[in-house]
Amino acid sequence: MIILKTRREIEIMRKAGRLVARSHELVRKNIKAGITTKELDQLVEDFLRSQNAIPTFKGYNGYPYSICASINEEVVHGMPSSRKLKEGDIVSIDIGATFEGYVGDSAKTFIVGETDEEKKHLVEATRQSFYEGIKFAKKPYRLSDISNAIQSYAESQGLSVVRDYVGHGVGKKMHEAPQIPNFGKPGRGPRLQEGMVLAIEPMINVGIYNVKVLDNGWTVVTVDGKPSAHYEHTVAITDGEPELLTVL
Ligand code: MF3
Ligand code: CO
Repeated sequence: MIILKTRREIEIMRKAGRLVARSHELVRKNIKAGITTKELDQLVEDFLRSQNAIPTFKGYNGYPYSICASINEEVVHGMPSSRKLKEGDIVSIDIGATFEGYVGDSAKTFIVGETDEEKKHLVEATRQSFYEGIKFAKKPYRLSDISNAIQSYAESQGLSVVRDYVGHGVGKKMHEAPQIPNFGKPGRGPRLQEGMVLAIEPMINVGIYNVKVLDNGWTVVTVDGKPSAHYEHTVAITDGEPELLTVL
């Protein structure tokens, strides 16, 4: 069952989302060659707590950090560590914040310094695939119209769409119905309607779409070792155009 949110609830989710966006700005300002992903994790955790928000991921199914930091061939759920970032790395930073009981969830892929054309194209096309998807995040479309638009765009760019992880409804819980694949035929699934709040999150690979989980039980990597990128916002369906909640 998809839980529809009232305007009052969406007002709170806007605040949660804004804190996630401010956390991403904090990462953007601090990410550079030599910093560790653990340091970025600590910066975000301290910021969220200073704003009376809770880092949603910490403790979720035993996950021990406030952010996910997935470097290069890591797709999602990369664990912050004492590894220093290097010039040319791409790093997907995923952040969740719970504020007054509601969750905001957003991921962006950052480039450390300068990188090669292949990674630049991947990062930009992954972001664009999200924006292609949300063109359909309104009436009278159906959920899989979003999925199909993301896939069509990503594949038109010579990239592949991860199948094993999907977007999701979001509200009082980080993961609510519906699941939102980033691939599939158009015209399927529920019709989009006002009050739905969706975390739409394409995970896109340079090589083949297959992924596997490392022995730490969390880090998802591409099986071919080629780079992957991630882009996610929490999006409210309205009477008109979709509203991004995880923005400044
Ligand atoms: N944004 C991710 C998701 O939507 C992050 C969850 S990571 C976890 O599933 F650590 F919290 F599990
Ligand atoms: Co998510």
